[in-house]
Amino acid sequence: MSVIEAIKNRNSGAMMSEEDIDPALIKQILDAAVCSPVHLRTNPWRFLVISGAGRERLGDYMARRLARDMDEPDSPKNRKYLDRIRQKAFRAPVIIVAAAAKSQIPQAIMREDVASVAAACQNILLAASELGLNAIWRSGDMTYDPATADFLGFEAGTELVGFIYLGHPAQEPSAKERPTSEAFTRWLEN
Ligand SMILES: Cc1cc2nc3c(=O)[nH]c(=O)nc-3n(C[C@H](O)[C@H](O)[C@H](O)COP(=O)(O)O)c2cc1C
Repeated sequence: MSVIEAIKNRNSGAMMSEEDIDPALIKQILDAAVCSPVHLRTNPWRFLVISGAGRERLGDYMARRLARDMDEPDSPKNRKYLDRIRQKAFRAPVIIVAAAAKSQIPQAIMREDVASVAAACQNILLAASELGLNAIWRSGDMTYDPATADFLGFEAGTELVGFIYLGHPAQEPSAKERPTSEAFTRWLEN
């Protein structure tokens, strides 16, 4: 398959089985991730691979964070809701948290490093697709809260870019109607 075909055939897939993913596949995916373009060789890519019972820690964090802003987190209704939130971490056997580290290089620009990690996330999605895995990039408010990066053990100043849920397909992702570029493109030719 050509690169262009691979890009056009990729679809996010959220339905995954609980089957573990071979760590060798994860390594292959992450090795592809760190081939994203990067300015000033800052090597900003940081990943946390969460699986197994590690997902409980993430789920608890998500629930605790929401509970903090509730007047009555222990009400039956809120408990039920928080349980549902806790379960969100179990939607996939593996979650890759992708983050951009703050560079020590004085000329480095954080938004460029975040862009490099975003490109790495697309590499992850494409590599997963080639390996027959389902993948979906997720975020949510907590992604951009520095407390979340801190909780997940990233160095100070690191910005989270996304949570990529990965797993063997329980259901093949459906193909989508894709736009063509004309509506988003202007040409400056003379
Ligand atoms: C930065 C970013 C954050 C996203 N966050 C979520 C999310 O939290 N939940 C979700 O269902 N989809 C989220 N998406 C969208 C999905 O990853 C996916 O791109 C979308 O469902 C369209 O599917 P496609 O990738 O097959 O086009 C996000 C995408 C990006 C780029």
